[in-house]
Amino acid sequence: MGSWPENVGILAMELYFPSQYVEQTELEQFDGVSAGKYTIGLGQKQMGFCSDREDINSLCLTVVQNLLDNNGIRPSDIGRLEVGTETIIDKSKSVKTVLMQLFEPHGVTDIEGIDTTNACFGGTAALFNSVAWVESSLWNGRYALVVAADIAIYAKSAARPTGGAGAIAMLVGPNAPLVIDRGLRGFYCRHVYDFYKPDLTSEYPVVDGKLSIQCYLSALDKCYKLYTHSVKKRVNQDINLNYFHAILFHTPFCKLVQKSLARLAVNDYVNVPEGARAVKYPDLDKKFPNIKLEESYFDREIESAFLAYSKDLFEEKTKPSLLVANLVGNMYTPSLYGGLVSFLVSKDVSQLAGAKVGLFSYGSGLASLFFSITITADVKNKDLNKLVSNLKLIISLLDQRAKAAPQEFDKIMEERKESLHKAPYEPLGNTDTFFPGTYYLTKIDEAYRRFYDRVPTSINNHE
Ligand code: ACO
Repeated sequence: MGSWPENVGILAMELYFPSQYVEQTELEQFDGVSAGKYTIGLGQKQMGFCSDREDINSLCLTVVQNLLDNNGIRPSDIGRLEVGTETIIDKSKSVKTVLMQLFEPHGVTDIEGIDTTNACFGGTAALFNSVAWVESSLWNGRYALVVAADIAIYAKSAARPTGGAGAIAMLVGPNAPLVIDRGLRGFYCRHVYDFYKPDLTSEYPVVDGKLSIQCYLSALDKCYKLYTHSVKKRVNQDINLNYFHAILFHTPFCKLVQKSLARLAVNDYVNVPEGARAVKYPDLDKKFPNIKLEESYFDREIESAFLAYSKDLFEEKTKPSLLVANLVGNMYTPSLYGGLVSFLVSKDVSQLAGAKVGLFSYGSGLASLFFSITITADVKNKDLNKLVSNLKLIISLLDQRAKAAPQEFDKIMEERKESLHKAPYEPLGNTDTFFPGTYYLTKIDEAYRRFYDRVPTSINNHE
């Protein structure tokens, strides 16, 4: 290989979310909780869900085929395909191998990569495996394709309204409009039982909600600190939230993200030397002369003071990234990247060009990373313009989804539970609401082999 590939990052993206959703206000009534708990308390408006017609394979087939079709990418252009997911339907066969049925008919079988799993972090691990491959001696000049997908469902409990589902595909290569900043990162990993899936006969996690929030916020503190150190080391700059044009987070529910931005404001506050703090934060300094990060995760006074302090920062730098999370819910591995899509479609290319975007990825258990992306400063960049105009179609697709009553949602959740791991099996869910181009399960045979069909695409639906 002649020269080191430059500006490695994301060249194209495709997002898929379910074509059915339930309203959170209606779910509040159905679940018998106080009005506002899911909508105001958790910050969620709607939640997407899948019937037994969709599984992790169908979600990934849909998003990969759509990305290839909508960007004119030939199967032979892909040299690596990585899948990040925590939706496990087979303990041996990877989703990646299932996706090979999109490539084999074109004579393409030399695509490296398999699946990666750690709760919501698998997609980020898949992305960085792909970036590392492009930057390595193993690279063969072809694109990497990163897929992150999950069906996020919980048992009937306080956690159920924080479900969702979706898939993202990202084309990775050199000279990208969304460049992953080289060497700027903060990684944090620990052994903790905050959310995990030990029962392999169930789709539901075992979750300690409060512990998971504490783990998420403490991981955010640790990753942000390491990220700021990496910037200091590489470009000798002390940074704070002003360094970023946008800050995006893994989004279990939107309220946690607003609190997370406030949490970063607390970190910035703590990082200012004591003598200088009174000048920069006169009101807060009197009230909170000595904040200890590890003792403040659930400190209501600190939380509300910094929520108020960071309100405008949140509106400007983070709220635009919550469109999909608010209307679809937690997609697990694609959640952060659904945030990136939401941010990109919220602006014109002229506002995006040159932007520095901070991203926090969290997967329970736990593995987490704060990293950043720099968007090309070239407003005329063809890939950037195409990426943004392709993605803008999701705004109308969100409106085209079919609303289901909570009773229907509940029935479909029961059907998923009853049918899990059954073979042979004929799915019950109807296919009427699916978007063009959606793959769906047609049957599982007596040997547990799964078969899929695809809703016909409209011609050039991204033109
Ligand atoms: N109107 C307005 N707000 C309300 C109302 C109401 N009627 N009722 C409750 N609230 C508020 C509460 O005050 C609370 O706000 P706060 O967080 O600022 O204190 C919020 O709504 C949630 O209410 P809780 O009683 O705390 O909710 P509960 O404990 O029943 O469940 C939880 C919330 C723990 C997040 C649950 O949904 C869960 O376990 N989710 C899955 C775990 C998760 O997503 N963890 C995040 C990281 S791990 C991951 O990504 C999977």
